[in-house]
Amino acid sequence: MAGNRTLTMIKPDAVRNNHIGGILSMINDGGFRIVAMKYLRLTPEKAGKFYEVHKERPFYGELVDFMSSGPIVAAILEKDNAVEDFRTLIGATNPANAAEGTIRKRYATSIGENAVHGSDSDDNARLEGDFFFSELERF
Ligand code: CMP
Repeated sequence: MAGNRTLTMIKPDAVRNNHIGGILSMINDGGFRIVAMKYLRLTPEKAGKFYEVHKERPFYGELVDFMSSGPIVAAILEKDNAVEDFRTLIGATNPANAAEGTIRKRYATSIGENAVHGSDSDDNARLEGDFFFSELERF
């Protein structure tokens, strides 16, 4: 059975471009409830740890530099079928391929600076939620 939570980050590009409000509004309009949320800046070490699965990829260094380049908003979101429905709402990783009406179509500028992250599986949603939030920070 599909889980009902996913983890998102509003990435440094979207924060710099003042899109926090617009993205949160699309998240609310998409039917997601905010379970947990914080505004923080990842260190390069923490960003490297979060994206450890991509360690062998050629873009890993660039990804870590970018994700630690400024503040982000991290949040746990709740909805039936959260992981899949959120990935539909955010659109393709490369904004050039993102569908109309998606967050990345509206706010992302490139495959590297793509405005938002969304977990790719229920297992990763749990791991990523635990990366940012304690039980006391979830409502
Ligand atoms: P995200 O959904 O956060 O998960 C992995 C991230 O790696 C992805 O979004 C992109 O930001 C980044 N990424 C994936 N492919 C590339 C690429 N070819 N070049 C740069 N960054 C990439």
